[in-house]
Amino acid sequence: MEKIKVLIVDDIAETRENINRLLKLEEDIQVVGEAANGEQAIKKVEQLLPDVVLMDVNMPIMDGISSTEKISLNYPNTAVIIISVQGEAEYLKKAMMAGAREYLVKPFTADELVDTIKRTNDLEKKRLGKIEGFNKLFGSKPKDTKPQVITIFGTKGGVGKTTLAVNTAAQLVKKTRKKVALVDLDLQFGDVSIFLNVTPKKSIAELVQERGQLNIELVESYLIPHISGVKILPAPMRPEYSELVTPNNILEILTILRQHYDYVIIDTPPFFQDTNLSALDMSNQVLLIMTMDLPTVKNMKLSLELLDSLHHKGKTKLILNRASEDLGINANDVENALDFLIAHQIPSDGKLVVTSVNKGIPFVISNSNAKVSKAVDQITNMVINDTGYQKELQESRQRRRFFGKLFG
Ligand SMILES: Nc1ncnc2c1ncn2[C@@H]1O[C@H](COP(=O)(O)OP(=O)(O)OP(=O)(O)O)[C@@H](O)[C@H]1O
Ligand SMILES: [Mg+2]
Repeated sequence: MEKIKVLIVDDIAETRENINRLLKLEEDIQVVGEAANGEQAIKKVEQLLPDVVLMDVNMPIMDGISSTEKISLNYPNTAVIIISVQGEAEYLKKAMMAGAREYLVKPFTADELVDTIKRTNDLEKKRLGKIEGFNKLFGSKPKDTKPQVITIFGTKGGVGKTTLAVNTAAQLVKKTRKKVALVDLDLQFGDVSIFLNVTPKKSIAELVQERGQLNIELVESYLIPHISGVKILPAPMRPEYSELVTPNNILEILTILRQHYDYVIIDTPPFFQDTNLSALDMSNQVLLIMTMDLPTVKNMKLSLELLDSLHHKGKTKLILNRASEDLGINANDVENALDFLIAHQIPSDGKLVVTSVNKGIPFVISNSNAKVSKAVDQITNMVINDTGYQKELQESRQRRRFFGKLFG
């Protein structure tokens, strides 16, 4: 089941932390971010597209009412619940006029908070469903409200991020026939172009130097079409040009791509650097990729902790690459060490993987029956259905173990 994505807006860090802690206990709610004032809230809504915003009223820089007004106008798929202290009842009317869907008075219980979030979200989905039905009936095309931004990440070099990025992107086009963009955010040593055998003349470094407001026509003119159907935004030609690209540039580019593409796949370098953080913020899904060696497992543990504190753990799916190699530790050991389940495993196939890079054709296209291709196909299904959350995984593992015991 899809989780309700919640953004918490309050200028007091302790309040945000308390609400966060309460909501963490809820399986069908996922806190996707926090903001400390109304202005930050608008930015975060733009990046994270939450279903529900919990909005405080009195905040510095921009108050909750003005922020609600802007959010309701510009992001009709996001519902705002105003949270205020007692005695601010006069705000109720203002809040409703500004487009807030609900009003919750502090102090409230955990149950009240959770009920209000779920009820508001249900109502909102019904309302949106009605609008969509109306649009269908009268022929106006509703905008696709669910573009997926997927970051392929891993904190060690050479674990297979680029391999997974190009093959998943190609498989997504093959399966869905939808629009897929592949952004190479490995800004210093990006090799998506090499993997796909295209020769870019310009890159993201030139794109961000364009004068004036970026728009889709401009961004499209930088995308290179690959025979798989994937459109590539290449990394800078030289490592030193990477400095031209700022985290804000990335937010802007991804915001535009997301409006015009169904899937945006992002390849990354193996660090928690600020450009990667922008990508993670904008992503609906994160595919965290690792191989089975002790340094990687150690890095992975730290990375998962950091992703958790950045509110990204809930959308993270762990992929084990080159899983078939016998290295003395097994997948169960890794899961236990990380306290996190592996969503999928990709076997090792040096010959095919290297040949496919040399030819510039993803192996999911050239050898769709190979084991590696089937593994990427399963990962693609997971991406399309946005499944693979820890709870579902845990349940299916338990079922399997139970039947395993029963029969065997
Ligand atoms: N499943 C696999 N079987 C065999 N070889 C693989 C597999 N996956 C990746 N490789 C090989 O491992 C090497 C590193 O892969 P890749 O470039 O995708 O990693 P990366 O994480 O993007 O690295 P970097 O951090 O340097 O960008 C490549 O030579 C690739 O061919
Ligand atoms: Mg790479």
